[in-house]
Amino acid sequence: MSEQKNRQIRLARRPKGMPDESCFEMTEEAIPRLREKEVLVRTLYLSVDPYMRGRMNEGKSYVPPFPLGEVIVGGVVGEVVDSRHPDFAKGDLVVGQLGWQDYSVAPGKHLTKIDPDLAPITTALGILGMPGLTAYFGMVDIGKPKSGETVVVSGAAGAVGSAAGQIAKLHGCRVVGIAGSEEKIRYITEELGFDAAINYKTVPDMRKALSQACPKGVDIYFDNVGGDITDAVLTKINYQARIVLCGQIALYNLEKPDVGPRNFTRLLINSAMMKGFIVSDYADRFPEGMKRLTEWVSQGKLKYRETIIEGLENTPRAFLGLFRGENIGKQLVKVADPQV
Ligand SMILES: NC(=O)c1ccc[n+]([C@@H]2O[C@H](COP(=O)([O-])OP(=O)(O)OC[C@H]3O[C@@H](n4cnc5c(N)ncnc54)[C@H](OP(=O)(O)O)[C@@H]3O)[C@@H](O)[C@H]2O)c1
Repeated sequence: MSEQKNRQIRLARRPKGMPDESCFEMTEEAIPRLREKEVLVRTLYLSVDPYMRGRMNEGKSYVPPFPLGEVIVGGVVGEVVDSRHPDFAKGDLVVGQLGWQDYSVAPGKHLTKIDPDLAPITTALGILGMPGLTAYFGMVDIGKPKSGETVVVSGAAGAVGSAAGQIAKLHGCRVVGIAGSEEKIRYITEELGFDAAINYKTVPDMRKALSQACPKGVDIYFDNVGGDITDAVLTKINYQARIVLCGQIALYNLEKPDVGPRNFTRLLINSAMMKGFIVSDYADRFPEGMKRLTEWVSQGKLKYRETIIEGLENTPRAFLGLFRGENIGKQLVKVADPQV
């Protein structure tokens, strides 16, 4: 095992504005030996996520920046190929924050076992993982949806947005999605049951389209993107609206801070609330979220899609595709088939 090489993708340089493939480099090194309480995990699937763009920058945020020259850390589903931890055995399937590499060594306490009989193992990185929990707590805890209310979701065909919109539907809301292609519009309306959808790339007048799609105004706005889309939605909010600030992907690659029309007067005159959150704020309630999400998925009430690119070497391309809207649902990279 120790002679086998471990391919790794490292941060080669920090991007200015939109990153490209030159920000990453692929290297190889030997698979490290295990120490007491450690586990060797072979990567099967890895997750690329928009928040990783923030970690490519220098400077303080809620997670530290990726160090230059180091392997990129991200969500991985893998199989245990060697273990010096009593709770893990060869063949176990696990999920954890590991790396963009073929093999990772991790302390057992950083890994969670997954049951392949419960759901496909990829869901541990999507609908039954971080994005699903983000949609659940953002919508349920901050949005507080009530039957008959109107909910707008931006980034609506993505991993978080597609789940957030469906969760609002499960609470009896009218749900309007905003997304960037006709295929995505069809997906969220025809397959996921959203009541209406707006293609922000082709709509001539976003405010008019919102007025038509939301004749009673907007009670909850689940924001994944920020920027012009959010400026437009804020002009339609109702009295005591809740704005769930989940993501701002339209701003992640800007070189200079964005200055918008500052529609905050709309919040003031409507006694509205805007609240940011990071899913880890809810860590002590993850079991509750997982239980609800698992029930809904197994009952067919919560649907999901995954866009899967093959090959570790294509991970940077999959990541960059998030900013070009290339994914529907959760974007994953398949690195290997289970072997044990
Ligand atoms: N608060 C938290 O704890 C938390 C946790 C997870 C994710 N998030 C945030 O939630 C958002 C969605 O994450 P995700 O993992 O579900 O990603 P995702 O929605 O599956 O993928 C990103 C999508 O964003 C859209 N997009 C990209 N650039 C855009 C732009 N300039 N303007 C408008 N839309 C753009 C694209 O769809 P279109 O084709 O529709 O443009 C793309 O498919 C991100 O902002 C992410 O940072 C927050």
